[in-house]
Amino acid sequence: MTFRATVLTLYPEMFPGPLGVSLSGKALEAGTWALDVHNIRDHGSGAHRAVDDTPAGGGPGMVLKADVLAAAVDAALPPGDRRPRLLMSPRGRPLTQAAVRDLAGGDGALIVCGRFEGVDERVIEARGLEEVSIGDYVLSGGELAAMVLLDACVRLLPGVMGHAQSGAEESFEGGLLEYPHYTRPQIFEDRSIPDVLMSGHHGRIAQWRRDQAETLTRERRPDLIDKADKTVMKERKD
Ligand code: ADE
Repeated sequence: MTFRATVLTLYPEMFPGPLGVSLSGKALEAGTWALDVHNIRDHGSGAHRAVDDTPAGGGPGMVLKADVLAAAVDAALPPGDRRPRLLMSPRGRPLTQAAVRDLAGGDGALIVCGRFEGVDERVIEARGLEEVSIGDYVLSGGELAAMVLLDACVRLLPGVMGHAQSGAEESFEGGLLEYPHYTRPQIFEDRSIPDVLMSGHHGRIAQWRRDQAETLTRERRPDLIDKADKTVMKERKD
């Protein structure tokens, strides 16, 4: 079953954008995943196809209209579609590698890209939109966030990553940050590749990498240590 991404946006010309090149672009061409992009403005109200209005209760900015977005969602979803319906928003549940893995294991998603100050709360409820954030900072719209989410999913689809191993060992799979990498030349500006990596001793190399990953995680992301895969860390003591 092809992973199908259905994106609702006011800026359809932003897609596929970076998703059209490299791994995700090749996978898109190969039919490993599909991307449908719909313009929310096609469902705008009146002669001017208005998509937003001033906030009830006053205040700055504009709000994406419930009726307009509901019509756009309904037109984009085939009857009986059971894919998750996501709304990219800084208010959302933070995106994690675990959530990405879940999504990539499914049939795809409907992804609404927010703009303006917000989206009328009633359409979020009425269409069962799950809000997803890619981090604690505010983008000017959900499009880049949708691309981040899709890039993270697509690289996990079967056949997309050449080297199956490279998925499992990197940052966050296992819950630790990744160990440092080196390649030739052996000396670069007076800095050598650590001796252990040149030793050919696979056991010691694996141990060194686990130690490095744990040390780096403790320094940079102590919040991840409690959640890390304890089997990975226990192996250190063997
Ligand atoms: N839209 C604006 N900022 C965002 C964020 N941090 N995550 C997801 N969507 C957004």
